[in-house]
Amino acid sequence: MDSALGQAGERRIGWAARAMPVLTAIGARFAAERPLEGLRIAACLHVTAETAVLMGTLRAGGAEIALAASNPLSTQDDVAAALGEYGVTVHARAGVDRETYYRHIHQALDIAPEIVLDDGCDLVNILHTERTELLDGVRGGCEETTTGVIRLRQMTAEQALRFPVVAVNDTRTKRMFDNRYGTGQSTVDGIMRATNTLLAGKTVVVAGFGYCGRGVAERARGLGARVVVTEIDPVKALDASLQGYDVRSMAAAAPEGDVFVTVTGNRDVIRGEHLAVMKDGAILANAGHFDIEIDVRALDGLAQAVHHGVRPNTDEYVLADGRRLLLLAEGRLVNLTAAEGHPAAVMDMSFSAQALVVAWLARDPVRPPGVYDVPEELDVEVARLKLAAAGIEVDELTGEQERYLRSWRAGS
Ligand code: ADE
Repeated sequence: MDSALGQAGERRIGWAARAMPVLTAIGARFAAERPLEGLRIAACLHVTAETAVLMGTLRAGGAEIALAASNPLSTQDDVAAALGEYGVTVHARAGVDRETYYRHIHQALDIAPEIVLDDGCDLVNILHTERTELLDGVRGGCEETTTGVIRLRQMTAEQALRFPVVAVNDTRTKRMFDNRYGTGQSTVDGIMRATNTLLAGKTVVVAGFGYCGRGVAERARGLGARVVVTEIDPVKALDASLQGYDVRSMAAAAPEGDVFVTVTGNRDVIRGEHLAVMKDGAILANAGHFDIEIDVRALDGLAQAVHHGVRPNTDEYVLADGRRLLLLAEGRLVNLTAAEGHPAAVMDMSFSAQALVVAWLARDPVRPPGVYDVPEELDVEVARLKLAAAGIEVDELTGEQERYLRSWRAGS
């Protein structure tokens, strides 16, 4: 590796790989079996050390890869520099503007992909709107995140989706570990790195109680915060309440919160009327995929002055009466901007599912367009490999137990 930047990236990737034994084992198998020989892949993922380990695994299987970033602020430039060594063409740089971000996705698509990997559905969207000439060549794809799966289901409902996409997000191993523990820990990590605030004794308002929101609420509570949850789904709201969280409307929570975290996947969750009644020093962070959950325009409109960079990834908005509101990471994913994204140990499972699904898509006959679940056996295989790597043994059903589960005759 020539450059100092590339060497730093290589060290970071090596560190991540240590916590990714499942993906490493799949990589060794791919190197022996070459299931992806010559397969062209376009990927739009956060350009992190963990993604680099996935890229290495797919390369070991024989794939040719072009990679663009799925968020302009999450790119780790040292990793991007090192990825060239893996033979991956990277179109990504931290902090690029909107136009460059989309240009990079177009450049990744120039590979004329047979398989696409997406995180948020931007690449699939561009394929279906601006690069339709490439659609016939695509066998299928994988989607990594909740927001992307919602967009894909809408495309399917409107009969717009032109190839099969596997919802990696919806596996048990992804939702339970990556969404919950990954988002939970890395979001709190981002808030702490940006502000160095003490969470003990603070009121943390978590908007959205899906798998990710639940993870954020658990970690904040673990650090001694009083956690308030806002929800629009009555069942999730009830669940939060029975787990001991205070459940409020955002209007009621706004004057109470010290720290606000949006994790809903929807727009305008924190609006002008909420911002107007917040406490001096309130911290605003978003952990949803897009920067639409906090109405930053309304915040700009309310502010008399904006002090950018009062801390790394922290901008201070001063309101007319002198109150200061602190916006983290410009309202973009705080965990990938102010911290390093989910820890490698959870990305190990999500990206192992991605690697196995790519091999599955490459191997099997092309399926009709639509959103597909990851085959259950692949999800279970990932969990089994993860347990084995941790040296954890689990029980197996006895023959008698298997027969019992299959029989409807046996009763009390
Ligand atoms: N999404 C969330 N965390 C991530 C990470 N560390 N790498 C890639 N994608 C991610």
